[in-house]
Amino acid sequence: MMDIKKAMETLGVKELNQGVSTGVEWFDTKGAITSSESPIDGKEIGRVKNGTLDDYEMVIKKAQAAFKEWRKVPAPIRGELVRQIGLQLRKYKNELGALVTYEMGKIYQEGLGEVQEMIDICDFAVGQSRLMNGVSLQSERPEHRLFEQYQPLGIVGIVTSYNFPVAVWAWNSALAIAAGDVVIWKPSSKTPLTAVATQKIIADVLRENNVPEGVFNLIVAKSSVMGDNFLADKRVNLLSVTGSTAVGKRVGGIVGKRLGKTILELGGNNAVIMTKNANIPMAVTSTVFGTVGTAGQRCTSTRRIIIHEDIYDDVRDKMIAAYKKIESKVGNALDEDYLVGPLIDKWSVELFLNAVEKVAEEGGKVLFGGYKLEGKGFESGNYVMPCIAEAKNEFHIVQEETFAPIVYLIKYSGDVQNAIDIQNDVPQGLSSCIFTDNVREAELFTSVAGSDCGIANVNVGTSGAEIGGAFGGEKDTGGGRESGSDSWKVYMRRQTSTVNYGTELPLAQGIKFDL
Ligand code: UN1
Repeated sequence: MMDIKKAMETLGVKELNQGVSTGVEWFDTKGAITSSESPIDGKEIGRVKNGTLDDYEMVIKKAQAAFKEWRKVPAPIRGELVRQIGLQLRKYKNELGALVTYEMGKIYQEGLGEVQEMIDICDFAVGQSRLMNGVSLQSERPEHRLFEQYQPLGIVGIVTSYNFPVAVWAWNSALAIAAGDVVIWKPSSKTPLTAVATQKIIADVLRENNVPEGVFNLIVAKSSVMGDNFLADKRVNLLSVTGSTAVGKRVGGIVGKRLGKTILELGGNNAVIMTKNANIPMAVTSTVFGTVGTAGQRCTSTRRIIIHEDIYDDVRDKMIAAYKKIESKVGNALDEDYLVGPLIDKWSVELFLNAVEKVAEEGGKVLFGGYKLEGKGFESGNYVMPCIAEAKNEFHIVQEETFAPIVYLIKYSGDVQNAIDIQNDVPQGLSSCIFTDNVREAELFTSVAGSDCGIANVNVGTSGAEIGGAFGGEKDTGGGRESGSDSWKVYMRRQTSTVNYGTELPLAQGIKFDL
């Protein structure tokens, strides 16, 4: 088992930590103190001094000044900084992974996976820093050149959630920094220590490269200090927010009112379709990672399994058999013997138990688990036995995202289009997948008449996306895209330029205007 005390020592995380930094510098703030407790054992891991409104103002001013410098640094040089950050993260992967596990509760393998996502996006952003290219177009006017280019945007506000406490910061900041922006990170108040540790990990690189203070900013603060005011602040050019749909609607409203830019990565209600042509053992094994991985606390976690009636009983029995193997594997996430850790807090346990109750009330049937674990090892009160329930897609509780390990089995009959229609019939649109060996079914699923989600996989589960593709979803998921592909464009402003290198002044559309 990872020695968490030693990991914290290596990371420089103390009993009482400062919570505001503009890069290398930390500030002795006078805000409230946030205590971070581990969901694993309920013990206090450490405390963080929050920022005040004055600290926020100070950071914004530094960020504004730093942006003026940072935008002038050539993009490949900015990429070089991100490359070094990637190397630094490799150095501290085990320790940061362990702290992610201890503070958030995901198993150590997944803690390591989270840090690997940070490393991967750094590598991606290094290459991207030489490829933030616009296009050259054909002008209709003689001796004119028409082109589009991308310019840095300014200050990017990053609001992250507890479930991926550091990876989502990396997705955003690796690209934003390469793009010439500066970032202000507000981490979840449930996981401030992983944020403090990350900021410390990058400090050496910032120092060695003489990066101005104000490029990489961190503010641990209450929402009264960095809530609606942060969203409404015109000085923040882009807000990238990960959270629930309810939070996203609030963010979208406030930022939209000032016509600001957002990346919203909100709730999912992700389904796996299993057709008659599915490789059932493969489908079941893959799906179990999707349902119980991160204790069901990924926005990509599998919430629904839509199964053809002919294979329904077989899949149901195999799912239950797989969960029986999980039964003895719920426990201390730092101990590599376990596959499922705790939920983040008691409130999440309540939401889980409420969903179990609701699905039964609406006429569903609990087939496995669905209760809180008590006794030795479970003293923190945050552990539950993952639940499988039979349900109908139209149940209210099935239409909602419950951020916990409960999955609904839904039967369909007839053509695969019926399954696709069920899968799309929820407010959210993040991730989806189909298990089939039939090429027509697979192609239909990824066609215009197929999945309406931002992610549509074939024979690959709903969770665990690579960073190379754009990540995000449609409908109530918010529409934002982060991470790979051309997501970098969101962190830049697009500019169209026409240059006249002649001596005449022809107007577009052939308009005559003779003075
Ligand atoms: C999230 O849950 O907010 O695809 C992000 C996945 C991970 C990222 C999840 N790569 O499951």
